[in-house]
Amino acid sequence: LLDKLEKAPADPLLGVMAAARADTRPDKIDLGVGIYKNSEGETPVMAAVKEAERILIEEETTKAYEGPHGNPLYCDQVGKMILGELTDRHTVFATPGGSGGLSIGMQLAKVASPGARLFVSQPNWPNHVGIGKAVGYDIHTFDWVSSSDGTPDMERVKAGLADARAGDVVLLQGPCHNPTGTDFSPAQWSEISSFLGGKGVLPFIDVAYQGFGVGLEEDIAPIRDFLAALPEAIVTYSCSKNFGLYRERTGALVLQAPSADALDAARGQAAGIIRTSYSMPPAHGPAVVATILSRPALREKWLAELDEMRGRLNFIRENFASALVRETNSDSFARIAHEKGMFATLPFKKGGVEAIREAHAIYMPGSGRVNIAGLSEDRIDEIARKMAPQLNP
Ligand code: LMR
Repeated sequence: LLDKLEKAPADPLLGVMAAARADTRPDKIDLGVGIYKNSEGETPVMAAVKEAERILIEEETTKAYEGPHGNPLYCDQVGKMILGELTDRHTVFATPGGSGGLSIGMQLAKVASPGARLFVSQPNWPNHVGIGKAVGYDIHTFDWVSSSDGTPDMERVKAGLADARAGDVVLLQGPCHNPTGTDFSPAQWSEISSFLGGKGVLPFIDVAYQGFGVGLEEDIAPIRDFLAALPEAIVTYSCSKNFGLYRERTGALVLQAPSADALDAARGQAAGIIRTSYSMPPAHGPAVVATILSRPALREKWLAELDEMRGRLNFIRENFASALVRETNSDSFARIAHEKGMFATLPFKKGGVEAIREAHAIYMPGSGRVNIAGLSEDRIDEIARKMAPQLNP
């Protein structure tokens, strides 16, 4: 039977990671998969995580099952980090990474609304579309185009969502849009909240980079207001980047229902989908996060590390933006300094990404997305110079 399967295409992001690893040129640089790297190009375990792991080794008493929600302290702490306060209309599940939460949340929405269509930004993170298709959604897109101030062109967003109606699902990203770095301003979050509220669609917010934009609280505040204004929503969360827990698969799924009774039903349905998907979430990552967030000294340590990562990203953004403006003679790249998080998407000429990979061992996905954190400070000018001839300013 298995010999009847066709060869699957390489994943657009994981394929780049594998190709970069296989390249033996000493000056190769991987700007592909979204992993935070420090100035040395490394992704060390965060000091707060190491300390939490030491505590867990000492204090953990059992490996018995935790149940479909996973670690209750983690669910409570992460839920509060997102929403401020949890009410009887909210429930939180620990999930295997943000992707696990996306899959369960999308399946749940499909059970509630079998005819639902899924609206995602264009460009998007390919796995949003991949998971949506796997769940059986008809995918629709809305344009996500950066204005000169680094925020999206709201008219184009609304035009792309004009056709969305009650029973549909609209996926928006929290801070640090992947792959563009183009984020709603707080005023735009409020505008889109009224717009979507008027349509009765189900908002689905994917938060994967809290703390990488402006600050931990600043990044989530407009999303909190957005959620407070609407009766129901699904939120997914990833601790991969802000806790550096990539391989531990540490995420969350938050359900906000219109009433406590509705929540009860949604919680039960979600637990059922979890049971038949992976039964229960992994425990280690959530235990690390819960340990960090519930101990003030450790939380401070983690926040300081997060601030440092954000500071580095912003430093590189500013310098990379200036280098591109200089090398291309075009101000259009100045927006990169105002955009947020780990990614920027550059307008390469057709075949440009492949040409740069071939000539200079600079690795990026075909979309032209650049992992800002992958740029080492001392190579910013050189990389901008090598990219410039292949860019359409
Ligand atoms: C990325 O976009 O590169 C990351 O979120 C990693 C992934 O799983 O795709």
